[in-house]
Amino acid sequence: MNRSARVQKLLAEMPPAEKLGQLQIVFRPRHDDAAELIREGLGSIFWPRSAAATNALQRVAVEETRLGIPVLVGLDVIHGQRTIAPVPLAQAASFDPSLVEELAALAAAEARSGGVTWTFSPMVDVARDPRWGRVVEGFGEDVHLTSVMGRAMVRGYQGDDLAGRHAIAATAKHFVAYGQPEGGRDYNAVDVSEHRLRNIYLEPFRAVVDEGAAAVMASFNTVAGVPMHANRRLMTGVLKDEWGFPGVVVGDAEGVRNLLPHGIAEDLTDAASQAFRAGLDVEMGGAPSEVADALLSAIDPARLDDAVARVLALKESLGLFDSPYASETDELTAPTDAGRALVRRAAARSSVLLKNDGTLPLGARARVLLTGPYADSTDHLGAWTQSFGADAETIAGAFVARRPDVEVRVVPGVDFLGEDASGIPAAVAAARASDVVVVLVGEPSALSGEAASRSDLRLPGRQEQLIREIAGTGIPFVVVLETGRPLVVSDWIDLAETVVVAWHGGTEAAAAIVDVLLGDVDPAGRLPMSWPRSVGQIPIHYAHENTGRPATTGGSLSAETADIGLHGPANVADKYTSKYLDLELGPEFPFGHGSGYATFAHAPATLSASSISGAELDGGATLSLSLEVANTSARTGDEVVQVYVEDVVASVAPPVRRLVAFERRTIEPGRTTQFEFEIGRDQLGFWAVDAAPPAFVVEPGLFRLHLGATLASTQAVDLRVV
Ligand code: BGC
Repeated sequence: MNRSARVQKLLAEMPPAEKLGQLQIVFRPRHDDAAELIREGLGSIFWPRSAAATNALQRVAVEETRLGIPVLVGLDVIHGQRTIAPVPLAQAASFDPSLVEELAALAAAEARSGGVTWTFSPMVDVARDPRWGRVVEGFGEDVHLTSVMGRAMVRGYQGDDLAGRHAIAATAKHFVAYGQPEGGRDYNAVDVSEHRLRNIYLEPFRAVVDEGAAAVMASFNTVAGVPMHANRRLMTGVLKDEWGFPGVVVGDAEGVRNLLPHGIAEDLTDAASQAFRAGLDVEMGGAPSEVADALLSAIDPARLDDAVARVLALKESLGLFDSPYASETDELTAPTDAGRALVRRAAARSSVLLKNDGTLPLGARARVLLTGPYADSTDHLGAWTQSFGADAETIAGAFVARRPDVEVRVVPGVDFLGEDASGIPAAVAAARASDVVVVLVGEPSALSGEAASRSDLRLPGRQEQLIREIAGTGIPFVVVLETGRPLVVSDWIDLAETVVVAWHGGTEAAAAIVDVLLGDVDPAGRLPMSWPRSVGQIPIHYAHENTGRPATTGGSLSAETADIGLHGPANVADKYTSKYLDLELGPEFPFGHGSGYATFAHAPATLSASSISGAELDGGATLSLSLEVANTSARTGDEVVQVYVEDVVASVAPPVRRLVAFERRTIEPGRTTQFEFEIGRDQLGFWAVDAAPPAFVVEPGLFRLHLGATLASTQAVDLRVV
């Protein structure tokens, strides 16, 4: 890798112990300790909470150390710094990458203004197990959606120039396959085939590395028995050598120390030397300085220099050598009106209408009851916000402020987690005296995020009982779900005709939910993860392989089922098929599901040619898939067109469908608009792992392109690769 003159000069001047200092970031240091550590050569710190505090520490680095190397200031800016945006899973639901880019740019501007230069985001772990609490931090189950949103976030954070005053360095995490821990339990082992590693878990990392992400974070899990912090094959072999990643590989919090309980290192020296040898560049937590001498004799000087050069190059590209300080007068310490408007729009656009019998938008109603624990709660920020993120208001407050003409009653009835149902009768009585009821329920923020796996994905506490009893009144009602993960809603979903998923929407969530309820914004998001019928189906995702015995009907336990016996008479044709005996087929709501307030008609799609040769594809040729969509309603609304590829016959069992393109567009009433999608090598190929290194191939044969507004409402066009 090319090293700048400055980096070469610094490397030549640094003794090994100083080099080691550059390879550490320590947590939230108290101010004095941090200054001392920096004097001793520490290269990176967590954000000390203000531009002034950052500058004070930066001054120690620049003025009081021998070489004056500035520090990197890291922080988990995950979905906003001061102005909190919807959680990343919600952002994915917007199916709107330019919105995601704008949100990341806002977060970056606020963070950099306070001196942060490095965020540990985006999380591009494909996640197909909603028990895992960290699904909230990523973009869901799909490889393409995750890649597109990851790229958008990297562009938003980093802008065109990392040295810009609004840019921060992005970190793609957690490398790799962290999203598929056994049993959905955080940090747990992962054992994944090379086929899935290449085609599913590595793919979004490849995309964001291609987008220029400055850093990549190693994950806590093992892959096939090798903890990622010591995984040379993947960190060095794939990421650095095969993909040519020039940036910094940072460890996760104490990930090096964790190699001891993982059972692969004898002591900290052993752990740290395994990690650096495997390709880690920066350790998070501070282990190297504890074992400096032993570590230095255990790692190759060229590897040490390589790691240091990567860190110095990052500092250089952030412009820190020339301009190390944040402007204390320009620090953005509170949301601006424009920032609030952006995150409000984002929260509304991320909402997913699961079903609607016409109760939404609410229209003119004289008496509205807001019930459920979210009616009067400010818990809308979601996982991974820091204490300095701007608080949200209550939905009750936002509703009353918007509609002073309406008689609004607020009777929560139950709380989030408790078993006390004694408030339900009051909610039911208030419902009977209302024209419409909005039931605001969900999972509070603390139930998703890191170390927040759940084994039961139903609404906690007595919230389901509240829904059932409100349904029993016969008064029209809407259920609004705030959540950081897919929930299991099967026990009550058939009682509710109108359900919207609002996720955890951030600082402006309450206003955004009111916007959606009143129809000021078309929700029109789509699910970025399948919502299972039962925890027993997990992992469940749309892009599964077919079995040799796909089922056409699900099971339901009955006297007849009991009668089937091994070779019994009933249902013989469908007995030996892949299903659960006690569950309908498929998820409750699949990936891509959602609608909006407008209605659309799709014309037959056309493809610019019905066949193309492999050689043309290799040369970069693409076909154009086009579709005319008309807004057939009287309101402006958003349509999301999704394109899925089915590789009808391949050399390995292909996924039944694979999202390869999508676009969300606002269409005026009565208007028709043309969507165009390019179909080429990237859309049709996959990683064949029998070659070394694996090769991206397009195999000849029949492909079927499915496109529509959801997975369930698609039309198909055939394409032959010759
Ligand atoms: C998480 C990372 C995070 C780091 C620093 C870890 O526990 O896994 O995602 O960036 O902490 O806060």
